[in-house]
Amino acid sequence: MRVLVSGASGQLAHAVRRTWQDHELILPEESVLDLGKREAIFSVVAEVRPDVLINCAAFTQVDRCESEADLARLINATAVGWLAEACEAQHALLIQISTDYVFDGTGTRPYREDDPTNPVSTYGRTKLEGEWQAATCTRHLIARTSWLYDAWGKNFLNTMLNAAAQGRSLRVVDDQRGSPTTCRALARQLKVAAEEGWQGLMHATCQGETTWHGFAKAIFEAKGMTVDLSPCATADYPTPAARPAYSVLDGRRRKSLGTDLMPDWRDALQDVVDHPEL
Ligand SMILES: NC(=O)c1ccc[n+]([C@@H]2O[C@H](COP(=O)([O-])OP(=O)(O)OC[C@H]3O[C@@H](n4cnc5c(N)ncnc54)[C@H](OP(=O)(O)O)[C@@H]3O)[C@@H](O)[C@H]2O)c1
Repeated sequence: MRVLVSGASGQLAHAVRRTWQDHELILPEESVLDLGKREAIFSVVAEVRPDVLINCAAFTQVDRCESEADLARLINATAVGWLAEACEAQHALLIQISTDYVFDGTGTRPYREDDPTNPVSTYGRTKLEGEWQAATCTRHLIARTSWLYDAWGKNFLNTMLNAAAQGRSLRVVDDQRGSPTTCRALARQLKVAAEEGWQGLMHATCQGETTWHGFAKAIFEAKGMTVDLSPCATADYPTPAARPAYSVLDGRRRKSLGTDLMPDWRDALQDVVDHPEL
């Protein structure tokens, strides 16, 4: 398959580059495939004529989205509509990556694909609008994921390791629950999904759940590091954007579609620690 990837400089695109190597990959830089520019999208998609377009680009800085809502909507929603239109013209499959933040976090069991959405932040709202836009393409796959990280990229794992390397005491929130998910696991699952022709909406996170504090503890254990780490409450550190307190996603639709590759989050973390290079 010829596969066009947007957001080439991000961490998920980095993992796609490593895991989809048996397909023809085209990863234009942001200056070429700028999602803020409709004409750039149409011209690149028409030139590449992809079988699959994976949209790894997004305005992912959750707090900044509150103060830059217009830009968040342009990149996370409006541009996805343009991608959908451009893919439709090429009969391409559009893979759109979405988020657990489309839910409000008041649930008490893992969220299913058909549970009502109710985002509590601008990021979540614009990503939900992006889902609606992606669904205007006949051939679409929307994958909601959560707490993405890997050995490479700007993410919680590297934030924790850098802070610990400076010898800092760390307080990490212990009242938000979710599923840490490695970019490599998601990239592998997306590859199989595209190869097997999955379409529609699916949840794609690593299995199991923890809190950010539990995740931090597991990171330091896996690395064999002794760090002064203590739990705190979300209320202790107010942020511009609200986060769902509980955003575990139920993976039953993914499991019903075919080959389920998503590992347990602890095994996935160990894999990243043992094999930082994909
Ligand atoms: N990270 C998470 O925890 C998480 C959780 C759930 C879902 N997701 C979703 O997963 C997907 C991949 O996220 P990620 O973690 O890989 O994020 P990331 O590392 O921040 O990558 C996103 C990339 O998009 C690029 N981008 C921003 N504006 C753009 C534009 N106008 N045109 C082209 N590219 C642009 C960014 O470039 P700059 O850095 O130069 O701005 C960045 O390289 C996103 O859809 C995100 O919403 C992420």
